[in-house]
Formats: sequence, structure tokens, C-alpha cells
Amino acid sequence: MSTKRTFTMIKPDATGAGYTGKIIDRIINAGFTIKAMKWTQLSIDDAKSFYHVHSERPFFDDLTKYMSSAPIVAAILEKDNAVSDFRSLIGATDPSQAAPGTIRADFAESISANAIHGSDSDENAAIEGSFYFSARELA
Ligand code: RTP
Ligand code: MG
Repeated sequence: MSTKRTFTMIKPDATGAGYTGKIIDRIINAGFTIKAMKWTQLSIDDAKSFYHVHSERPFFDDLTKYMSSAPIVAAILEKDNAVSDFRSLIGATDPSQAAPGTIRADFAESISANAIHGSDSDENAAIEGSFYFSARELA
């Protein structure tokens, strides 16, 4: 079945560089509808909780410090095939490997400061969205 929703965060490197508006423009132009959005900052404990699936990975400390270092923009997006189409729109994790025209190719600095997050499954999109938004905001 085609998925309707995904979850994204515009990461600290991109909010800090002033790319938020340009990235939101790319998302809307690609056919996604914004269902909920907020500008916020994670504490280190928030970041550890959000990324707990990566807690055994070698980059976990750097990732959670980085993601709590400055504001992010969290959003719920809707479109047919949302999860898969959004991963295509943002490009590969490492921007040097990301296809031309993708958000990471155009706005990311490095594999750690890679501009944007996109959920990797329907299940994770729902879990990640409810980390940031109340049931009323998700309706
Ligand atoms: P994301 O979750 O942010 O959309 O990225 P992703 O699926 O493309 O990559 P994932 O494997 O879920 O990794 C989450 C984030 O951890 C950082 N990372 N650093 N230094 C490294 O080798 C490394 N690998 C991953 C990246 O910022 C990645 O987005
Ligand atoms: Mg991921």
C-alpha cells in the first residue's frame, strides 16, 4: 500500500545556514503537504531518546550532541508514497554520494551535518511524528 505520511527534521546545520525557507520550498514543490510543523530545540536527553535505535552505533554520541546543539524544524508531511518519495528527494546520507538536485546534495555539509532527516519506514514515521506532535496536532 502506498504510504501517506512521513516525518522530517531540518537539522542544525541547515537552520543555522539560513536554508530553512529554501528547503521547505523544495518540499512543497515536490508535492508534499505540510500537516504539522514546529521550530524547536532538542535537549541532549531528547536527542538520545529520539535516536535510541542508533545507541550502539559508533556515531551515536556525536549525532546526539550535534542534533541538540541548535534549533531544528520538525514536520509531518503527506503525499502518496511519502516515505520513499521523501528519501528520494533528500538523497543519500553522505552528501558527497547524494544525487544532483537532492536536498542533501545542495544544502548538506557532511555525513554528520547532512541538512535533513527523513523517516525510513511507515512505522518509524508514526513513532517519530508522535515524539514531537500531540494527537490533536497529528489529526
Ligand atoms: P536520517 O535518519 O537523518 O534521515 O539519515 P539516514 O537514514 O540517511 O541515516 P541513518 O543511518 O539513519 O543515520 C542517522 C544519522 O546519523 C548520522 N550518521 N553519521 N559518521 C557516520 O558514519 C554517520 N552515519 C550516520 C547522519 O547524520 C545520519 O543522518
Ligand atoms: Mg535514518
